[in-house]
Order: sequence, then structure tokens, then C-alpha cells
Amino acid sequence: MKRAVCPGTFDPMTNGHLDIVERASGIFDEVIVAVALSPDKGGGPLFSIDERVEMVGAAVAHLPNVSVRPFDSLLVDLARHVGATVIVKGLRAVTDFEREFQMAQLNYRINDEIETMFIVAIPEYMYLSSSAVKEIAEHRGDVEGLVPANVNERLVERLRKGR
Ligand code: PNS
Repeated sequence: MKRAVCPGTFDPMTNGHLDIVERASGIFDEVIVAVALSPDKGGGPLFSIDERVEMVGAAVAHLPNVSVRPFDSLLVDLARHVGATVIVKGLRAVTDFEREFQMAQLNYRINDEIETMFIVAIPEYMYLSSSAVKEIAEHRGDVEGLVPANVNERLVERLRKGR
């Protein structure tokens, strides 16, 4: 039984994230999408941890071997806790490299029983990010096709009400 964790802030989940989770679910017996609390990231997330977990849960509902859970600890500790031996990350254009390599090296330094593996983003999602999606949506731009349909609805609803 090979279990992987697919971590991130997911504020909100994009179709790029979803593509990585779907591809990981075809490789591993079980995939746990781990949603980080990330309270300090970029002035604080737009969506609460409960909202992000719920949105990811709805977006991955069609994948029977994928589950979602929040975490607020070291990623390798979460992986050990849930019995996962692999961390799966999506890798986009060159800008991701330095940060992802640093995290992979440090995670390996903390726990060398957990491997980090990268799945390369497809060209369509190479430049897609949660922050770009929020910026487009904040300016009333259309993000259909960039995020799962349920996330699109929540973004429109949230930004209509204001933060
Ligand atoms: O979607 P993000 O914000 O790029 O995800 C980053 C995340 C949540 C994977 C990373 O910040 C993380 O692993 N946080 C948990 C704390 C931790 O283990 N930090 C050490 C990694 S060097």
C-alpha cells in the first residue's frame, strides 16, 4: 500500500492543483491532500482552513482514493502520522524550482524516510497560481477553466461580499 501526501495552502485550489492530485491518484494507492493552515502567507489566506478543506473535498469527490485533511505541523510529521512515505508536489516553471528544492532538501534532512516526488505541470497550467486567480477574480475577471466550478462559485460569492 503506497500512500502519498499532496500538500499546499490551496487558497483556493486551482485546476493546476487538481490535475496534480488526479495524476498522483493514478500512481499511488491512496493520496491525502493536506491543506496547510498557513496563517502568515501573503497577509493571510482569503478562505478559512475549513472553507479550503471543504472546497478541495468537493473538487476531488470523483477520486475514490483521495481524501483531504487540514494540518498545522511540519509536513513530514503529518506524513509520518498518516503513514505516507511520499510527498507529491506539482512543479511549474523555473520560478518554483528554488523554493521547492529547498523544501524537499529540508524535509529530507528532517525525515529521510519520506521522499519528495515532483509531477510537472502541463503547459496549460504552467503559469497558473492561486494568487493570480485571486487577483483576476478581485478585478472581476473570469477565472472559469482555471479553477474547479465549485471554487469559481465561492470566489465570486466571497469577492462580491468583500473580504
Ligand atoms: O501551496 P504552498 O503554499 O506552496 O504550500 C507550502 C506548504 C504548505 C507545502 C509548506 O509551506 C509546508 O510544507 N508547510 C508545513 C510546515 C513545514 O513542514 N515546513 C518545512 C518545509 S521546509
